[in-house]
Amino acid sequence: MSETPRLYSHAIGVFDSGVGGLSVLRAVRAALPHEDLVYVADSGHAPYGDKSPQHITQRTLHVGQWLALNGVDAITIACNTATVVAAQALREQTHLPVVAIEPAIKPAVALTQSGAIGVLATQQTVQSSSVARLIAQHAQGVAVHLQACAGWVEQVEAGALDDVQTEALVRAHVTPLLEKGCDTLVLGCTHYPFLTPLLRRVAGPGVTLLDPAQAVARELVRRLGPRPARSTRGQTWFLSSGNLSQAQRVIGQLWGHAVAVAPLPE
Ligand code: DGL
Repeated sequence: MSETPRLYSHAIGVFDSGVGGLSVLRAVRAALPHEDLVYVADSGHAPYGDKSPQHITQRTLHVGQWLALNGVDAITIACNTATVVAAQALREQTHLPVVAIEPAIKPAVALTQSGAIGVLATQQTVQSSSVARLIAQHAQGVAVHLQACAGWVEQVEAGALDDVQTEALVRAHVTPLLEKGCDTLVLGCTHYPFLTPLLRRVAGPGVTLLDPAQAVARELVRRLGPRPARSTRGQTWFLSSGNLSQAQRVIGQLWGHAVAVAPLPE
């Protein structure tokens, strides 16, 4: 139990290695307009995708514990990398419901016409046993091409959603998947939905892009169950472990309006 007063009361915690989880937060906000939401961007430690599993687990437990001690009723892991490496450890550490995003491999298998899907994700996600398990369980008869997308997270963290360098990185990683006949691309990192206009231009209109954010929001609603009705609009609070002026600029850009960002205590 924390000795200091809790900052929130019956809020919902959502966190990511950085700003990418805002793509999940917007789905959560749409599904739960009256709930208070606390978003933690661990940008001071991003990207997670090329860090060790020990480091990712330690950060996930730190952020999860901070949220739990400060009055959230549920934790949403809005980071595929944290899910595949550390969701189990967080679930063992907290009594709160933990809802965790994972790559949408099963829906992609159901949708593909060509019989080939691509999974765009971080290095830690593509090499994880969780992704291997998802493929073994759901992808019989379909070719699954895993693609680690080095550099994409950094571009989104900088707010560079559609500049020359980002386009070159996106083309370098998507073109081989198109050449292999993939007609469905799983956005297996929550930063990537912010690259959708660029991805759409590179992949062309015939390719389906899959983002499971709305499914995560539906699962969160289900796990929360019935809650006391509130008449007011929910508040949204933002915290970051990174540079606060950059966090304020990029979160404001991705969230669609200016926001205040508080420092995440270490
Ligand atoms: N948004 C995180 C994910 O979904 C990015 C991980 C990273 O920081 O590399 O995997």
